[in-house]
Amino acid sequence: MAQFQSRQRDGVSKLSQRLDTDSAEAWQVHSQALQLQQQGNDVVILSIGDPDFRTPEPIIDNAVSHMRVGRTHYSPALGELNLRRAVADYEARISSHGCSVEEVSIYPGVTSAIYTVMSCLLDAGDEVIIVDPWYVGYEPILAALDVSTKTIIASPKNNFEPVYDDFVAAVTDKTRVIFINTPGNPTGAIIPKETLKQLSTYCFKEGIWLVCDEVYSMFTYETPHISLRTAADILENIVVIDGLSKSHAMSGWRMGWAVAPPELTRHLGNFAAMSTFGCPQFIQDAAAFALNNDEYYVRDMCRAYRKRRDLVCAHLDDIPGINYIRPQSGMFIMVDIRKYNENDTEFAQHLLASQRVSVLPGSAFGSSTSGHIRLSLVQPENILTEGCERLKDFVLSLQG
Ligand SMILES: Cc1ncc(COP(=O)(O)O)c(C=O)c1O
Repeated sequence: MAQFQSRQRDGVSKLSQRLDTDSAEAWQVHSQALQLQQQGNDVVILSIGDPDFRTPEPIIDNAVSHMRVGRTHYSPALGELNLRRAVADYEARISSHGCSVEEVSIYPGVTSAIYTVMSCLLDAGDEVIIVDPWYVGYEPILAALDVSTKTIIASPKNNFEPVYDDFVAAVTDKTRVIFINTPGNPTGAIIPKETLKQLSTYCFKEGIWLVCDEVYSMFTYETPHISLRTAADILENIVVIDGLSKSHAMSGWRMGWAVAPPELTRHLGNFAAMSTFGCPQFIQDAAAFALNNDEYYVRDMCRAYRKRRDLVCAHLDDIPGINYIRPQSGMFIMVDIRKYNENDTEFAQHLLASQRVSVLPGSAFGSSTSGHIRLSLVQPENILTEGCERLKDFVLSLQG
């Protein structure tokens, strides 16, 4: 064994070592909560981001029927034409620009789409600018590519919306990509159209790719989603990534896409051909069906999340000393608990220990959400109410 290891350096590649980080702390409270639940304890889990709704029945039926007629073979690396066309139609519906099939590529989930796009745009050592707070899944992708990551702060003082001037100030000669997320996880912030427009014009002039994760695009409440493709005048340096995991409660189906200039899409196809080698045909058929017929499923689920958001906000209004920004989209609420504890991990641990409620510490998402906890809305209303009541009891006990 010793000889094997010495010949193999550290046994695994540098990439494996870069991925072998301890993200466990962020998820510790969640893991502990699951453990307590398995032991039979009554735990309210508000720490997950997976929709609790079932995938709508017609989508399931569609997949099954396509599986039965033999749609179970290899698929083109860029995706089945029927789904690429459905995505192009959807993107054209939500944007002022048209969208052609040549701009669309299909992936097993948004994560895979992001990894493929970043792999085709970045070399080791290149610089990417991202917004703090960010979705935790970005970090390992950027680490895998060995790029250098620069963050700009989206402060709660500005409703967690990033500011155009901060992007410009962060750009250096090495910046190749600015990576944004709107509507955003974890805060539900929507980047205003004017910021997107200014940023896209600036990036085009400076020769920087602007990539936007819009996985919550179908998930907005009062403020409508504005796609980067709507805000941008020129699309030559623009990539939009989206998928069905959240909007259609299809997280386990693994369905995402990228919309990029045709020449980049060709490279994305080459990358996909050696990595994913296509997605299951019957899943792509069902995804195309979902996109072509999604009006009522998506609206019903979005309405339910909005009602849950209102319910939780009403409960939070009743808890002294905490603050929150009403999210405009998505399935999370960031709650400022600094009045009680600057250390959000400790707050979350004590909340779990004393009230059996699990939430994620905001610092897991970056420095701008430290001193916050993230509550998720992927539970039925009675569970959300129970969770909020326990949170209130906990806060009152801290006051006492
Ligand atoms: C902002 C954001 N992007 C991407 C993902 C991952 O999406 P998928 O499950 O389709 O890979 C998530 C999941 O939580 C997310 O919140």
